[in-house]
Amino acid sequence: MKMRPAGKVAAKGGGSWATARLVTLGDWLKFAEKMYAREQVALGQVATNGHDEALYLLLHTLELSLASSAAVLARRLTVAERRRVEVILRRRILERVPAAYLTREAWLGEHRFYVDERVIIPRSYFLEIIPEQLAMWLPAGKKVRRVIDVCTGSGCLAILLAREFPDAVVEASDLSAAALEVAAINRRAHGLVRRIKLILSDGWEAVPPGRYDVILSNPPYEPSAHVDRQAPEFSAEPRMAHDGGRDGLVIVRALLRQAVARLQPHGILVLEVGGLRAAIDREFGMLDPQWLPTRDGSDCVVLFQAARLGAAAMEVGAAARGPGRSTAAPRLRGSKG
Ligand SMILES: C[S@@+](CC[C@H](N)C(=O)[O-])C[C@H]1O[C@@H](n2cnc3c(N)ncnc32)[C@H](O)[C@@H]1O
Repeated sequence: MKMRPAGKVAAKGGGSWATARLVTLGDWLKFAEKMYAREQVALGQVATNGHDEALYLLLHTLELSLASSAAVLARRLTVAERRRVEVILRRRILERVPAAYLTREAWLGEHRFYVDERVIIPRSYFLEIIPEQLAMWLPAGKKVRRVIDVCTGSGCLAILLAREFPDAVVEASDLSAAALEVAAINRRAHGLVRRIKLILSDGWEAVPPGRYDVILSNPPYEPSAHVDRQAPEFSAEPRMAHDGGRDGLVIVRALLRQAVARLQPHGILVLEVGGLRAAIDREFGMLDPQWLPTRDGSDCVVLFQAARLGAAAMEVGAAARGPGRSTAAPRLRGSKG
């Protein structure tokens, strides 16, 4: 990419982009924050505020440690560094390229993943749920042997699962062959080639038969109309990573439909579902959904137990055979959507 010299140039979003007087990293950080606000850059992929994201981008671009002390802000930038920083900020703020696509990395806690435009940028509540809550829903002392991450994208959650359950074979499926290429990069980078099997599949379609201790998924769950109106940063991610159909529930229904046949009797299905809590409670209340607490209180991860799914399936069967067919029947079969 051709670099513009640092200085006062017209910004794409209107207004000036005055950088000639920026000397230290701290000056560039303040400037970036101002531009993030002025251009109404969308956040939420890498950080929740402009300060944190801009600082990350600046440190990464200058190849400085992300754990640098505040003293780093006094560092004076060389001419070459100023140019590099300006190019990256223009791409982020004016072209609205997601920060993680610029740096080619995303962090989930301490775990670093390679990312590019083939995958959604990892930002899942499963980072806290997998190590802190899954074990309490599984039988104590019983080894977890088989786990699947459906809709794996970059493979980030399959990798967290492999770390959490060291005795398990982990399968990771996705409908996007391009996403699975990225998952393969991450699987290798994390030294998990032997433990994680990647599967190209539409939902359960090409997933080999078998029953799991844990089925986990962060599926696409945004209603299509919402996806149509997303900010440019989110539209830069694969649409199929967001689009959950008319009401957001299409993939969730497909996963639930087969879960009972895919789980061990003690098994669990855990789904991250964004803002669909009310819809899920309404449609799948009979399956006894358990909402797992998250630190920020958004509680958008739901857990279903095989035992309850099985019991509900039997109720449905009985209702379908007898008079007065249960209203629950079409729910479990996922006939909507
Ligand atoms: C919200 S992203 C989650 C990616 C990753 N698990 C994460 O948490 O970052 C959803 C993923 O589901 C995949 N996907 C969409 N429709 C699918 C389908 N019918 N079957 C399997 N995967 C699908 C997309 O390609 C995307 O990678």
